Amino acid sequence: MTGRVLIVDDDQSMCELLQAGLKRRGFDPVYRTNPEEALRLLDSDDFAVAITDLHMEGMGGLELCRRIAENRPDMPVVVITAFGSMETAIAAIRAGAYDFITKPFEMDQLALTIERAAKHRELQDEVKRLRMAVNESRKFDEMVGRSRPMQEVFDLLGRVAETEATVLITGESGTGKELIAKALHNRGRRSEGPFVAVNCAAMPETLLESELFGHTRGAFTDAKASRTGLFVTASDGTLFLDEVGEMPMGMQVKLLRALQERVVRPIGGNIEVPFNTRIVAATNRDLESEVAEGRFREDLFYRINVVRVHVPPLRSRASDVLLLAQHFIEKFAKENTKNVVGISSPAAEKLLAYHWPGNVRELQNCIERAVALTRFDQVVVEDLPEKVRDHKTTRVIVDSEDPTDLLPMDEVERRYILRVLEAVGGNKTQAAQVLGFDRKTLYRKLERYGAQAQQNPPVVAVNGH
Ligand SMILES: Nc1ncnc2c1ncn2[C@@H]1O[C@H](COP(=O)(O)OP(=O)(O)OP(=O)(O)O)[C@@H](O)[C@H]1O
Ligand SMILES: [Mg+2]
Repeated sequence: MTGRVLIVDDDQSMCELLQAGLKRRGFDPVYRTNPEEALRLLDSDDFAVAITDLHMEGMGGLELCRRIAENRPDMPVVVITAFGSMETAIAAIRAGAYDFITKPFEMDQLALTIERAAKHRELQDEVKRLRMAVNESRKFDEMVGRSRPMQEVFDLLGRVAETEATVLITGESGTGKELIAKALHNRGRRSEGPFVAVNCAAMPETLLESELFGHTRGAFTDAKASRTGLFVTASDGTLFLDEVGEMPMGMQVKLLRALQERVVRPIGGNIEVPFNTRIVAATNRDLESEVAEGRFREDLFYRINVVRVHVPPLRSRASDVLLLAQHFIEKFAKENTKNVVGISSPAAEKLLAYHWPGNVRELQNCIERAVALTRFDQVVVEDLPEKVRDHKTTRVIVDSEDPTDLLPMDEVERRYILRVLEAVGGNKTQAAQVLGFDRKTLYRKLERYGAQAQQNPPVVAVNGH
């Protein structure tokens, strides 16, 4: 786009003159003698700057400025006017022109004006980009992550937050599913409404049903008064169905019906109550295999799996570990009014070597404890829990002179395959490519090494919407 200039003038010879002059000065000029055509060109093409004559047959230059300002507000327009009167110049600026130049003019003078307009635009674009970056990181203010998989998660969240789509968040325990559910709510159109979370694993079926759908007075022995269900309580807001994979079968049928009909029937009642609630669900189970094994209803699965956000385990996003550690150090130092500002590099190495089966929650607990324990202004190895401190770094190649430290070829291969899988975020096709195996060979080897073939599913999948 740099240097591309659109010239609009109904005088063909003037267009040719300007084009030749600007070309000689290093611009890439295109001209149109018809303003309507120029506007059409702008629909499909981008230019750094447009220059237009003021007096033209049909649509005049002022009108053209107005139309460009409406449709392409970031494109500066320079107006050429034969009448050096202040009024026309002011009218042009009012109409949205960036600058004007009066005939007769020197080519160099025009070139300078165009350059200034282009610079102005670059600056504006840059400011816009920065502002967007700042807003972007603010929108997920609680959430830290700069690894590629997390950037993809944030990107997807940004796209679905403002929709009404049902979102299913999957990921291992402690990866941040609830935080994501809240972020979806806070960023969505329903942020003024309530965010209601319910843990589907924590209650027996009847209790869960009455929690979700409500009950009438006397519906069961303890029902001294009627009670509104959470589906209705969360109207105009978001209902977060946590651990949805643990929901009893009988309840799954009722949930499906509620989601399809957008109404709930309180226990003991025979009226249906409509709700206007966005549903976000989460699970750390592999719902596809739960469905395959008959523990989760397939129809319900499709109902909630409209947009899928998969949160990758912490071990597959090494670049987030220290970022999160720092985030938690600051958080807990502040909470405990302790002067801890960072982490020593040997301690940082330990954090990076550990595989974090409890994911971000485990890292958070580990840092909370370390900040409480440390006698220094930084977290040191001694402040870390034993299992983190003593974790044997699974280096692929062990660099040692001691023969008993050295590894058999099989073990090297196993470690290397896992290492590559981690690096590609679990994408087996990509891993196979890196390793120079075909997929079948990779699967065979994974099976042989007892590596869970389920490990690290693809980072993000969007179905529908
Ligand atoms: N990206 C992140 N940035 C900052 N804090 C995070 C991030 N991810 C998770 N946390 C924190 O880690 C803890 C665990 O997160 P959360 O409860 O959302 O996990 P979860 O996936 O719902 O876990 P579970 O499956 O066990 O319910 C929370 O205290 C949360 O604030
Ligand atoms: Mg949770």
